[in-house]
Amino acid sequence: MNDRNRIIYKINKNIHDIIYTKNIVKSLEKKITELKSDKKIIFLYDENISNHIIKDILLGLKLTGCKISSKKIKSLKKNKNIKSVLDLIDTFTKLSLTKKSVVITCGGGVIGDLTGLASCLYKRGLIYINIPSTMTALVDSCIGGKTGINHNKQINLIGTYFHPSNVIIYEKILDSIPEREYISGQAEIIKSFIISNKSNLNFFDKNISKIINRNKVIAKKLILDSLKIKIDHFTKDVYEKNKRLLLNFGHTFGHAYEMATDDLIKKDFLRHGEAVSLGMISEIALSYLENNNKSQKKNIFKNLIKIENTLKSLNLPIKLNLNKKIETRNLYKKIFFYVFQDKKKISDKPIYINFKDKGKLYPKEINNFDNINKIIYYLLNNTDLRKI
Ligand SMILES: NC(=O)c1ccc[n+]([C@@H]2O[C@H](COP(=O)([O-])OP(=O)(O)OC[C@H]3O[C@@H](n4cnc5c(N)ncnc54)[C@H](O)[C@@H]3O)[C@@H](O)[C@H]2O)c1
Repeated sequence: MNDRNRIIYKINKNIHDIIYTKNIVKSLEKKITELKSDKKIIFLYDENISNHIIKDILLGLKLTGCKISSKKIKSLKKNKNIKSVLDLIDTFTKLSLTKKSVVITCGGGVIGDLTGLASCLYKRGLIYINIPSTMTALVDSCIGGKTGINHNKQINLIGTYFHPSNVIIYEKILDSIPEREYISGQAEIIKSFIISNKSNLNFFDKNISKIINRNKVIAKKLILDSLKIKIDHFTKDVYEKNKRLLLNFGHTFGHAYEMATDDLIKKDFLRHGEAVSLGMISEIALSYLENNNKSQKKNIFKNLIKIENTLKSLNLPIKLNLNKKIETRNLYKKIFFYVFQDKKKISDKPIYINFKDKGKLYPKEINNFDNINKIIYYLLNNTDLRKI
């Protein structure tokens, strides 16, 4: 394995790695044989992943000579709850798993958050390996260690930090990701590039058609680059006190849109990345409204238009288009309510990520609540931000 296919990082002196592979059978056999496990494995996977991928993974696991159990999981958002966590813990108990047993998951952010939490809580943690299967998971949620379930109508209200010992990226999965999920995950790549530096986003813009066509060379570069940016942010700040907070760019508003529209658009609900796309636009627009310096404002506005164009070229949403006739007043109230559910806040004011320029962002409290209404108005209407 060469360095171009492996990223190694440390958390509290423990070594973790990410492997990018075309041959999952060989990679799994090698990785698991290296582990000091009790030779019991439970493989948990998303029910919607193609059989040929699951077969490849199972073959790799069988070659390790370990005792293998497997279980399909429904990745519905509504299943990201405490009952699902307890069901998984019951399964682990029935199999008499120990702290040295291995949980391997293959799925998107929902399965990762859920199985990560169960793996962290059972006997205070067993060995956990993640094989991401959506674009959001490949470029973001497979690392960082955040686990979580929704509760009391709040996203990820209950959760822990629990890092997978290994992440295995199987190139073949890229072609199996449904189109909407594939595009949705691109928003998290764009987020990483905005918070890090300027040139990456230019690379993104230059390669839009290759990205849409799932060119493997470009996809590999984008995946590994975004994971490296994430590692740089969270290894220096595992518990989200400062630098890691920037990874939440777009999430204060994004989560609010996700929750507020959940029962309005049901089956057609906003995907996580789509919500982040809308959230990034909102937080740049809010940064524009909150800035009083004329030349800085001009620069923020220029960036807003440019980033809107990048998102649009991928068909990611930049406006909150709700097809059905909805009661707008009620929607404003709901979004307002969920912005205030922000988990980052340390006073009664929500925190968002303020944008000055690409690579120059920082967490900031929202002081003028009237601006929240202006942002919702901007997201619901085709209007010029400078005239609001
Ligand atoms: N822990 C973190 O750091 C972190 C980061 C970002 C997002 N998240 C969480 O991730 C969740 C969103 O995750 P997501 O966008 O990956 O969605 P998801 O896990 O719900 O998956 C989306 C859909 O794609 C299907 N699917 C998954 N892989 C597939 C494949 N290879 N082939 C066919 N279908 C497949 C799933 O069954 C599901 O219907 C949210 O709950 C969010 O809070 C967590």
